[in-house]
Amino acid sequence: MLFSVETLLLCLAELSQPIPLPSPEPQRCDTEPLQRRKRMDLCVLTFVERLQQYYRTRVCLSAEEVSVSQQRALEIATEIQAFLHSKHPDMPLGDMTLAGSLLDDLQVVKADHTCLIVPLQLESSLWTPIAGEDTFLGHPQYCMVRRENLEYFPRGRSYWDRHLLGGYLSSRLVSEQLGKTVMESMNWPLLTGTLECEVRPVLGSPELKLEIQGLTKSSYDSGESFYITVLPTVRLGEMTLTAQREITGSFDYVWYQSLYTSETARLAALDKADSGVRRKCLKTLKAVCRNCPSLRKLNGSHLSNVILHMSEKETDWSESAFADRFQQAVTELIGYLEMGILPSYFKPNVSLFQGFTEDDIDEMGFMLYCAVTEPEILLI
Ligand SMILES: *[C@@H]1O[C@H](CO)[C@@H](O)[C@H](O)[C@H]1NC(C)=O
Ligand SMILES: *[C@@H]1O[C@H](CO)[C@@H](O)[C@H](O)[C@H]1NC(C)=O
Repeated sequence: MLFSVETLLLCLAELSQPIPLPSPEPQRCDTEPLQRRKRMDLCVLTFVERLQQYYRTRVCLSAEEVSVSQQRALEIATEIQAFLHSKHPDMPLGDMTLAGSLLDDLQVVKADHTCLIVPLQLESSLWTPIAGEDTFLGHPQYCMVRRENLEYFPRGRSYWDRHLLGGYLSSRLVSEQLGKTVMESMNWPLLTGTLECEVRPVLGSPELKLEIQGLTKSSYDSGESFYITVLPTVRLGEMTLTAQREITGSFDYVWYQSLYTSETARLAALDKADSGVRRKCLKTLKAVCRNCPSLRKLNGSHLSNVILHMSEKETDWSESAFADRFQQAVTELIGYLEMGILPSYFKPNVSLFQGFTEDDIDEMGFMLYCAVTEPEILLI
């Protein structure tokens, strides 16, 4: 067990005090008479009712917010595609698409980010993906893309040969070329005028990222930004590899095999088969972790893997079991934190907690332990 005894005692000590309910609404039962009746009702809400209310009011995005964000992101993507095509007409790219939680009805709390997939078209006869576990990298999600048949099809035969590094396609060189074109040469001020929202590249990040302000009227008023991450993507056989240099770091030739699509598809298929609430559970957990500072390090990837593991042994995902499954996920998470390992559902050798410090794990464990007996503390 990783949590210290002190942490547990502290937790228990806190629990023996009356725990202040996080949301101010239900507590204040003694205010104006007009409001009293309503507040009285709120006071007696069970946890199940509060969870449902949290889901409706705090988790879900409005259909309008989603559609406006998608529409604007699409307009920006169209501009980028046209610009890239005019600048590098010979660059073999497939059709760009938006991707990620905003498109999959998995984004929560605020519509604030999406990805733009830029598919590189590679000749399948000239390029082979090499899985990370088969290389000295030893990481099942790190891949390399090897140039084949150089003796018969010499360097220069493929457009992408200019991005070779020691016989492998370099994610860094590809990102740099796209970065130079998109981030540095596009006329962003002009685009800002056309699109009626402010678009600018985020500088000094290894990612190719655009920041958009004033996407919707309300986000303009509150000064919140929307981000689009441009993801150079290679599809070879079954594998989808992305250039994500903030993950793969200093390995210039390493591509990242994202499991997001497989995980999301599996969850959707399971829900479809039994009309389940896995997505609802996942979105609620995502919102909880986003809203609780001590749980902020847990993201969609951790949480969808927890739900996928739970689905292996748990069969009742009906609407009436929503709160039970939510609380079960909390307990499961505590178990994984105690072990210090959360195995990836599709690549069990990868621990999704890798990179967390012991302090991170202690802090999350503390919060979740307290939530076992007082689950309301999560609904802030
Ligand atoms: C996973 O780990 C086991 C043993 O630790 C090893 O035999 C196997 O090759 C690994 N598989 C992958 C995909 O890395
Ligand atoms: C979740 O966080 C981990 C780091 O803890 C990161 O590697 C991963 O890309 C993140 N996933 C998502 C979907 O944000």
